Amino acid sequence: MINKEQIISKTINSFIEYFDSKPEFTCAYPGRVNLIGEHLDYNRGMSISCGINKWIAVSVSNRKDNKIVVQSENLKSEIIFTTDLEDNTTELWHKYVFGSLSVFACHHQLKKGLNIIINGNIPMGSGLSSSAALEVALLSAYFNLFNIEIDKLELAKLCQKIEHEYLLIDSGLLDQLSSIYAKHNYYTLINFQDLSHSHMENNIEGASLLVINSMIKRELAISKYTKRVEECKKGFQIINQTQLDKISDLDLKKIELYPILKKRFSHILSEYRRVHQMKNCIINNNVIDAGKILIESHNSLKQDYEVSCKEIDFLIDISMESKDWYGGRIMGGGFGGCTINLVRTKSVNKYIDLVNRNYKSEFDLDLEFYLI
Ligand code: GLA
Repeated sequence: MINKEQIISKTINSFIEYFDSKPEFTCAYPGRVNLIGEHLDYNRGMSISCGINKWIAVSVSNRKDNKIVVQSENLKSEIIFTTDLEDNTTELWHKYVFGSLSVFACHHQLKKGLNIIINGNIPMGSGLSSSAALEVALLSAYFNLFNIEIDKLELAKLCQKIEHEYLLIDSGLLDQLSSIYAKHNYYTLINFQDLSHSHMENNIEGASLLVINSMIKRELAISKYTKRVEECKKGFQIINQTQLDKISDLDLKKIELYPILKKRFSHILSEYRRVHQMKNCIINNNVIDAGKILIESHNSLKQDYEVSCKEIDFLIDISMESKDWYGGRIMGGGFGGCTINLVRTKSVNKYIDLVNRNYKSEFDLDLEFYLI
């Protein structure tokens, strides 16, 4: 398996080959998995996430003219902007680059052009936050190239601005903060009420985190995601309370008349409790309860938040047949993408075989598996 240093040196080599000179700065940021706390970032909740062993790397250098030449190594495709930053984007990945340049230009005027190479091994559009890793790597590369200090939280917020203003996705800060704070063999506990974070050592033994890519792309899910964000915003307005742990039964009575909002809040509040429970499981190496919490979370995301789909539900149902599966759930924005699973380490291959066989015969699709 390729490691971070290898991705970085591959990217530097690609840069040298493409631009015939060495890059001045290179960095790489990982994708993320979210263990628990789904759809809580834009609801002032909490989450427990970690970085994965897959990255997006960016190499960058100054140019003498006003061109900004960007090459995606993965897509073998180039886009050229100028320092005037006129929007000539035609593809999705162009928008991330254009957004990052525009956001950066608000901090530091781009007088001369840039050469940029993007390269990575995070599968795109599958819920592992390849786009957040791309945003963080791009912005971090510019700030470093121009020797401008930037606080990590500020960096995440600028990345979020790219999502909001250039992709028109109202996402929270989970993906960017998870990528920025990622630490090997540690989980990151993020509190979205005050945007504080802490690291927790992964004490769970004998079980591995296995991500399964259902191969159902979630690109078309943006409008459904936005709808959830709007529903919750409305719910908070009606309840008139912004702190999840202060919401009382009396507050909840106020949304009784709105059955959809009631369901959404049922997920938000139960998921919030699950984050606290999961924290204890990680500290106390309680794999059995950790698995149960994941299954409860899936049911809540499926029934109350309504962000699952038949392929993902099939993956969870079939996993129930395995004695080596402690639990799992749909992960990320939903409507496709990946599941996250806690599987007995010794039996990962056996479990993979069971799931793969059944999924293939049901949907004629080959799953992808990533051990975290
Ligand atoms: C997507 C968004 C995140 C977060 C998750 C759901 O990944 O980008 O901000 O809301 O969905 O937890």
